[in-house]
Amino acid sequence: MFDTILYEKLDGIAWITLNRPDVLNAINMRMRDELWDVVHAVQDDPEARVVIFKGAGEQAFSAGADISEFGTAPSYVESRRARRQRDLWGFILSLDKPLIAAVHGYALGAGIELPLCCDIRIASEDARLGLPEVSLGYIPSAGGTQTLPRHIPPGVAMHMILTGDPIDAAAALRYGLIQRVVPRQRLYQEAESLARTLMSRGPLALRLAKQAVLEGLNLPLPQGLALERRLARRALASADAQEGIAAARTGRQPRFSGV
Ligand code: COA
Repeated sequence: MFDTILYEKLDGIAWITLNRPDVLNAINMRMRDELWDVVHAVQDDPEARVVIFKGAGEQAFSAGADISEFGTAPSYVESRRARRQRDLWGFILSLDKPLIAAVHGYALGAGIELPLCCDIRIASEDARLGLPEVSLGYIPSAGGTQTLPRHIPPGVAMHMILTGDPIDAAAALRYGLIQRVVPRQRLYQEAESLARTLMSRGPLALRLAKQAVLEGLNLPLPQGLALERRLARRALASADAQEGIAAARTGRQPRFSGV
């Protein structure tokens, strides 16, 4: 169905695999277009409850934007217009479903900026994460200058962005850039197990909690607290909350309907 990605939906989990292993899953224009299509399909599909992004092959989640395409767009104006019309990274950031990135090997440039648009990042011990753009004479442009300092201390983000040097999985865990490090052979198992945990929670609650965190990050604290109050009222009035509370009282597993 796609040339540059694989898409599989298994038991409610949407697996999106960057699939150009011969070039370390470099993100070319075709892959951007296909990611655009697949994330829209996932957003509209009620059966896809959690998304996991991963990279094909042994060496990389993704080595970033496809360097061989640099400078090949018909014109700067046209390429800027295309990016504005199809803000892939902004759209991924706006998805209301939980997004997990399962990162191995190289995760460079857009190859770490995509995971930064996700909610939870798990990496294997061999991961090398970095934003090398300045060593090529330009700057991150898939959101990295904005998303990275929102995940890790600004000084650490600045160090990564200004040197372009990658960090290893242990350092990324220490800074909070990733949330777990696991052996390579357990990476997808752990990502799937996390996805299953999320799927056992109230779907509406997950959406509202994600909205509260992401919108709140851009608000002064008093407005963030007001946003949380509004969303909490909505959550509490939902059928899911009635079910969750009833199930907790009787010690049974809740059966959430997502409303
Ligand atoms: N765009 C296009 N092709 C890429 C690529 C990218 N970002 N990253 C790697 N590739 C290709 C290489 O050209 C090579 O192709 P070839 O076999 O046809 O020559 C193949 O992937 C394997 O890469 P190679 O460089 O041989 O692997 P390595 O293990 O020696 O080095 C890296 C790995 C990641 C250090 C190195 O590939 C690299 O620096 N890539 C560019 C990273 C980058 O700057 N990304 C940010 C772009 S914004």
